[in-house]
Amino acid sequence: MYESAATYQPPTDLKTPKAIEGDQLYKSFDRNQVLKGVTFALHEKENLVVLGKSGTGKSVLIKCIVGLIKPDSGDLCILGNNIKNIESEDEWREIRRKVGFLFQGGALYDSMTVRENLEFPLKRQPNKLSKGEMKTAVEEVLEHVGLLNAINKMPAELSGGMKKRIALARTLILKPEIVLYDEPTTGLDAITSREISELILHMQEAFGISSIIITHDMACARLTANRMLILYEGTFKAEGTYEELERSPEKWVRAFFE
Ligand SMILES: Nc1ncnc2c1ncn2[C@@H]1O[C@H](COP(=O)(O)OP(=O)(O)OP(=O)(O)O)[C@@H](O)[C@H]1O
Ligand SMILES: [Mg+2]
Repeated sequence: MYESAATYQPPTDLKTPKAIEGDQLYKSFDRNQVLKGVTFALHEKENLVVLGKSGTGKSVLIKCIVGLIKPDSGDLCILGNNIKNIESEDEWREIRRKVGFLFQGGALYDSMTVRENLEFPLKRQPNKLSKGEMKTAVEEVLEHVGLLNAINKMPAELSGGMKKRIALARTLILKPEIVLYDEPTTGLDAITSREISELILHMQEAFGISSIIITHDMACARLTANRMLILYEGTFKAEGTYEELERSPEKWVRAFFE
């Protein structure tokens, strides 16, 4: 059982390589200015938790990182690649392979078994695996999320927490260097939420994954965060560990912890 993320603290000094760096990112939809100069860094092997009220642009920021939304201005570097310099769809595909994304809904394909759901991303890769390699990859990743026994089940036979685990396994099977979690525990009971939070920590320790975790679940934040940022009115307005922010002199920051 993990008591808190403090058991592992990645270095976050200026010399630590950055998995992601955002500099003065802006994004508007018509007259709705959502990102208004977002600047941040995700250090290698770090779990960075992002808080912010509903509608502040947390999902928009994550969608910029996976290339689903293009920022209007600013610089965004992912694993050393400035997205402004990415010219071809092939280059984007290569970066996307290294950046896993657990969607807010985390949907599985209902008509496919768990095994088929996990084989799906592998089959879409340019470098094809043999049947044997695919079988090993699927079994290995299921073991990591503790659901090897569900390999032949259909999604309808799984609980909400199990579905989240399989969705996470499907993200991990491509061996990403970065995983972006958008509300990984929403809609789950406290015990299942804790299991998912522990799995996020396990991914960091077992594979050295760097993660951004967007959450409203403060128990998940407390367990997983090495560092936290709060998105407020279009920029990151507060930064610190869970304990630092919980004791912030600013009332609006403490309000997230009440
Ligand atoms: N594709 C889009 N087109 C137009 N507006 C959008 C689009 N995506 C997001 N928005 C707007 O951007 C703002 C931020 O949305 P976003 O989904 O990032 O919020 P959020 O912080 O993730 O909220 P929640 O905590 O509820 O998930 C909202 O006003 C939303 O309406
Ligand atoms: Mg969102």
